[in-house]
Amino acid sequence: MARILITSALPYINGIKHLGNLVGSQLPADLYARYCRARGHEVMFICATDEHGTPAELAAAKAGQPVAEYCAEMHGVQADLARGFGLSFDHFGRSSSPQNHRLTQHMAGRLAEAGLIEEVAEAQVYSPADGRFLPDRYITGTCPACGYENARGDQCENCTKQLDPTDLINPRSAISGATDLEVRRTKHLFLRQSALRDRLDAWIDSQRGWPVLTTSIAKKWLHDGDGLQDRGITRDLDWGIPVRRGTQDWPGMEGKVFYVWFDAPIEYIAATAEWAEAQGLPEDAWRRWWRRDQGAEDVRYVQFMGKDNVPFHTLSFPATLMGADHDGTEPWKLVDYIKSFNYLNYDGGQFSTSQGRGIFMDQALAILPSDYWRWWLLSHAPESADSEFTWENFQASVNKDLADVLGNFVSRVTKFCRARFGEALPEGGAWGAQETALATALGARIAAYEGHMEAIEIRKAAAELRAIWVLGNEYLQEAAPWATIKTDPERAAVQVRVGLNLIRLYAVLSRPFIPDAVETMMAAMGCADWSWPEDAGAALEGLAPGHGFSVPEVLFRKITDEERAGWAEQFAGSRG
Ligand code: MF3
Ligand code: ZN
Repeated sequence: MARILITSALPYINGIKHLGNLVGSQLPADLYARYCRARGHEVMFICATDEHGTPAELAAAKAGQPVAEYCAEMHGVQADLARGFGLSFDHFGRSSSPQNHRLTQHMAGRLAEAGLIEEVAEAQVYSPADGRFLPDRYITGTCPACGYENARGDQCENCTKQLDPTDLINPRSAISGATDLEVRRTKHLFLRQSALRDRLDAWIDSQRGWPVLTTSIAKKWLHDGDGLQDRGITRDLDWGIPVRRGTQDWPGMEGKVFYVWFDAPIEYIAATAEWAEAQGLPEDAWRRWWRRDQGAEDVRYVQFMGKDNVPFHTLSFPATLMGADHDGTEPWKLVDYIKSFNYLNYDGGQFSTSQGRGIFMDQALAILPSDYWRWWLLSHAPESADSEFTWENFQASVNKDLADVLGNFVSRVTKFCRARFGEALPEGGAWGAQETALATALGARIAAYEGHMEAIEIRKAAAELRAIWVLGNEYLQEAAPWATIKTDPERAAVQVRVGLNLIRLYAVLSRPFIPDAVETMMAAMGCADWSWPEDAGAALEGLAPGHGFSVPEVLFRKITDEERAGWAEQFAGSRG
């Protein structure tokens, strides 16, 4: 038994996430967490809402709410949706928690002690009318490239050109519309990542078997152009973690907060502290996951994220943790494996939160139960390349894999047994060559499935699981108990027993993918034994003759052509 720490990239607080976000971090992390638990490992699975930064402030303003209230409400909404999708976090925290305030300020203090923080004077846009400095996104004006009048200070939405606020023609405050903007000098803190470049480079080189997507992005940032750049880690915003040096004030930094990307990954740790507190456990309960001097030396730490998050997780966050241990007194746990994802596209274009394009988590659950989505998303995870959601493909996967292959198997076996033998596993008969061959084939396929799950090769694992379901169908087709029973009822009894045991076996193996449906399967088998099949042959005899069962309701229904067409239409426009 191992100890496995799993984190999913933290979803931004500003609004409900779409299925592309879900499959890029939280859902695959859940799959892996569930698998690790099923294999008897001790798991700590952490996620949280990422609540700071301009997007949160702007979303709150748009909703007409104070930002703290907006965040509290949206955290609740996201937590409910996470439950709806069966995401089995040990804790779903908030980056605005007191724990994260303390820890972020502590880390900044340690970095300053290490000489890794530089104070830099910068010219920045100040709005006297608003009484504040304006971050890039709070300044709008005319794009110098295309003439679009509502371009933002960081980027023109119309032509996608990256901008500096000072590039804008007729700049104005996005808060008040004021045009009397001034450029003033102000100080900001920079994390001297460049000083850690060689250590980061060596650390990444020492990692074995990381996905190419992960290492290639990290290497590019380390070596392209002038190499790894220092990063500003403070902002002029009201909402955020006040800049402090540990518990001390930071002269010159009054009124400033840490940059959202500085405090967000620290929340992985702080959320584990939130978990400990919520459980009424002492500090060492979370430290044994995160501090190598306090029990974490044998922890395996795996992170899940979209590819746009990779630079922060391969470079900035490790730089923070390495820097905080400058004198060897705070050995924080660094990540052991980073699973990163490409993008999921929606029907010929991109999922887009700002344009409301695609399917959002709440809408998905309003249409179909979460297992339908989990299965499609995971079996089409954008691992080696971007992948695309189409309604045709979704309908085909659900109808074939879930309804025909798995659902139909369960229904055929249980109904046949009830009709011919009654609602208990029939007695009599002994295994023949077909059963032995099935056990052998299953054993090999289960081993392959385990291999893919351990390597976090999600599509391959899904394909193998489906192949395991197919084996049962093939066995049933060949054994044909409905024919055998006429000539050799004892033989038919063996076949039906094997079929019913397969249902339990499938429930156990499929649980990481479709956790709700397998509950129905297990309940129908009158069984609560979720132990992993270490031996396929033994697993096929787990439920003994005489054991009662019932016929479950339809596990997965088929999606009709009319439904598919209706949904395609409904989701073609943008979300209201
Ligand atoms: N909120 C970010 C995003 O959705 C991810 C933050 S991950 C963390 O892209 F590590 F910073 F927390
Ligand atoms: Zn433009």
